[in-house]
Amino acid sequence: MPETTPSNPLREGLSARPLPDPCTVVIFGATGDLTRRKLVPALYNLAVEGMLPQAFSVVAFARRDKTDEGFRAELEEAARKHSREPVREDLWPAFAHAIFYHRAAFDEREGYASLARRLKELDAARGTRGNRLFYLASSPDQFPVILEGLRVSGLNHAPAGGWSRVVVEKPFGTDLPSARALNALIESVFPERETYRIDHYLGKETAQNLMVLRFANAIFEHLWNSRTVAQVQITASEPLGVEGRAGYYDKAGALRDMVQNHLLQLLCLTAMEPPVGLDADSVRDEKVKVLRSLRPLSGAEALANTVRAQYGAGSIAGRRVVAYRDEEGVDPESRTETYAALALRIENWRWSGVPFFLRTGKRLPKAATEIAIQFKGAPPVLFNAAGQEVADNVLVVRIQPDEGISLRMSAKLPGAAVRVEPVKMDFHYGTSFGKATPEAYERLLLDAMSGDATLFARRDEVELAWKFVDPIHEAWEEDPSGPAIYSAGTWGPSEADELLRRFGFAWRRL
Ligand code: BG6
Repeated sequence: MPETTPSNPLREGLSARPLPDPCTVVIFGATGDLTRRKLVPALYNLAVEGMLPQAFSVVAFARRDKTDEGFRAELEEAARKHSREPVREDLWPAFAHAIFYHRAAFDEREGYASLARRLKELDAARGTRGNRLFYLASSPDQFPVILEGLRVSGLNHAPAGGWSRVVVEKPFGTDLPSARALNALIESVFPERETYRIDHYLGKETAQNLMVLRFANAIFEHLWNSRTVAQVQITASEPLGVEGRAGYYDKAGALRDMVQNHLLQLLCLTAMEPPVGLDADSVRDEKVKVLRSLRPLSGAEALANTVRAQYGAGSIAGRRVVAYRDEEGVDPESRTETYAALALRIENWRWSGVPFFLRTGKRLPKAATEIAIQFKGAPPVLFNAAGQEVADNVLVVRIQPDEGISLRMSAKLPGAAVRVEPVKMDFHYGTSFGKATPEAYERLLLDAMSGDATLFARRDEVELAWKFVDPIHEAWEEDPSGPAIYSAGTWGPSEADELLRRFGFAWRRL
């Protein structure tokens, strides 16, 4: 009998996909952290998986003086550090030879004209056919000048038969007016269908699996509503502090940095109705409906249903860490929140009456992102009669780490006595599929090259998310009491526990 190798569904799923069109990825701000830590490792991993287009190149647009060779060497070092797949001697050189460095300042017109010439030459030499993916990885204040450079040089219009797309990194604005202005600016240069707004949480394998869990398994959808669900908790906790990003973070805070984008996106995927199709607009239409159904929170109602806090000194994994206000670059009197908790209501037929609790924070005890759906309890009879309550069922989708899904159930403890204990049915990606899940940026780059915008935020999604978040931020700004303080290494302030107690719940222990 022929030997069969065990099948690997993750790998199969990837390789079943048609390869993207030949193209050139142009990265603006290519000497920054994102390129080294995420973008180039992701592209390299796609090369290892055989998922890059047949003809492919990367042009790094940045101001510093570097040669192609010097830049490639820097990227190799970064890939050795950050790539999921080890750097292979037989693959790296060919991959690196597809990377070119283009030195120019963002506001230098001639830099875009010479970029256009260089792209044309690369098309001819490498067969990239005039397809361009412009990736804005610079700081957001540079987006307008880069977009203007692309417009003036005509690079936003693809040569005949080709395409020209733009990928925009977060933060996408700092509030509704700035997001609207950025959207209007982008729209004057690239049409919406060629605009890809990154929210890297959407590229995470488990976030994508939420739709499969809900709509490929007939058993869950019947339970997914206010008749059976008691509450939903979405948590994104990080032990990290501001990590040298004080300049950005101290102006943003947890609400704008994590809730407006990542957490609201997870909320949408959890709460949305089944889309009519799996195409980008059908999925995004449903997410938009969730955002439109959120009960607005402003003024006193915002203060009553949210908690903001900032970390004080403490210890993480046995290491002493300083208070947020003592971090380098942070205003010593900063009122910026590093923790946010919110109790939300989705006012639609499916979810009316079910509280959705969101929390995120820095310098919390561990890294964990999960969605927990707690079902209503069994009737108070039989095993659940007064005095012998059994634990409620909870379905947990672990976004990261240890990606997977678990269901808490009750079972009889073996023995002559009838003792009911909670047990877990657990699915782990690692053990079931025998392979580390791909990084979010791998999937997102692949989709952008393939013209699939499903995992990218649409204009109205981004604006509605800001519309929801802005009044909360305003209420906080106007509230003289400022953020509560929690010690680094704890699960946040007691006010957050109090918030859930008022609803008759408690935060899950992670
Ligand atoms: C980013 C935020 O968008 O997401 C960071 O700006 C945060 O503050 C990060 O640390 C978390 O991403 P991940 O993938 O590590 O959960």
